[in-house]
Amino acid sequence: MEYQSFLPVGLSQGSPLWWPNPNYRPSDNIAEGPAGALNASSLLEARGNWLRLAPVLDVVFPDGSDTEIQSSLIEIGNHGFDGIGLLAKCDHDIRSTGSIKGRGGVYEVLMFAEMLANSHGLNVSAYPIGLLSQEAGDLFGRYRILVGSTGNLGFSVGVTARRLGFAVEVHMSREAKSWKKERLRRFGVAVVEHDDDYSVAVSSARRAASGDPFSYFVDDEHSLTLLLGYSSAAFEICQQLKQSDVAVNEQNPLYVYLPCGVGGAPGGITLGLKYFFGPHVHCIFVEPVASPCMLVQLAAGVSGPVDVYACGLSNDTIADGLAVAQASLLVAETAGPQIAGVATVSDDDMIRWVHDLWISDSMRLEPSGAAGFAALARHGRDIRKSLGGKEGTTIVWTTGGAFLPDAEWKAVFEEGRKALERCG
Ligand SMILES: Cc1ncc(COP(=O)(O)O)c(C=O)c1O
Repeated sequence: MEYQSFLPVGLSQGSPLWWPNPNYRPSDNIAEGPAGALNASSLLEARGNWLRLAPVLDVVFPDGSDTEIQSSLIEIGNHGFDGIGLLAKCDHDIRSTGSIKGRGGVYEVLMFAEMLANSHGLNVSAYPIGLLSQEAGDLFGRYRILVGSTGNLGFSVGVTARRLGFAVEVHMSREAKSWKKERLRRFGVAVVEHDDDYSVAVSSARRAASGDPFSYFVDDEHSLTLLLGYSSAAFEICQQLKQSDVAVNEQNPLYVYLPCGVGGAPGGITLGLKYFFGPHVHCIFVEPVASPCMLVQLAAGVSGPVDVYACGLSNDTIADGLAVAQASLLVAETAGPQIAGVATVSDDDMIRWVHDLWISDSMRLEPSGAAGFAALARHGRDIRKSLGGKEGTTIVWTTGGAFLPDAEWKAVFEEGRKALERCG
């Protein structure tokens, strides 16, 4: 196929690589996005929505310390990355949802609930806590929210929607871990298991919702609302860097490593970061060697979908959250020119970092959550060089893991130790 000539050498063989995006336009910012659907004012509006709805989150997540879905930005041990300012953005430790998908899933459920309540005369915009009233719960109980997920989006949507009173159905791909399914069932979510990949799970959920006025489908492949929810992380980063006196400018650019599955979470965050930092932030998407769906989509161009199977790859990876064969075309189109490039990493590298980050920094990560560190270790030097060579500040996004049950966690940790031994 013609686009295959654009694919980097080694991709089809599953070699870890850094692919600088030839269509990267560092100065593009959100205001230039297609059709103006995602622009500065929609980002600011989303931020306002989060702030307005914070009292609801306090009640929905009584065990979380978040009034929004937020995580800390911390300095991290050197790990041999000499001379770079290294920070970790700890979404793995978000108390309420446990992953990067929380900002999107929670936000979209809240937006739908608010719209529904307002359209039934409950006027919750003026009084958001009314979303938790008996009257609102009775209304929501007549509706079903559906979503396709490898696990973490389903959890964010499932928990929030169940606490508001909705019925929830999560369609899960074969990669989804059993403990993630069981966790959902405990919240009263109907889990539909598919012996197929993520795209099939998403389209099954879409089909199950279509034509039913009492069903609402959260579309991880096409939802602008999800992207806006994710984008709120950029406001956090901006405040956190200010508090830490880290300047971002031409001399001190920001490199951000974002694990990518379908692309929604890293895409939304990229759009938000570009709004704040323009050409001085470089967002690097990180994908498993078997599932570089955003890389192949950006390399092939966005005129039609291309999946990793067409490139001879299996989509078989230990990183369940990143096991996606077909990227979101919405993200590829909207955020594509703002993505500096894509780095791919092996399963062995990810689990070694799961091991190392526990030893060094007591971070409990799932393999997807450690992908950013694997990419920095393997490709960081090349990435910096291809983006102008300045040392700057590096943020690695640790995207999930705190909720791993002990047995799961120990098994991954042990695998990581073995992988370390194998490579000496
Ligand atoms: C832990 C973790 N990290 C990263 C991602 C990637 O997010 P997205 O699929 O929106 O690209 C996911 C997706 O589920 C995830 O669960």
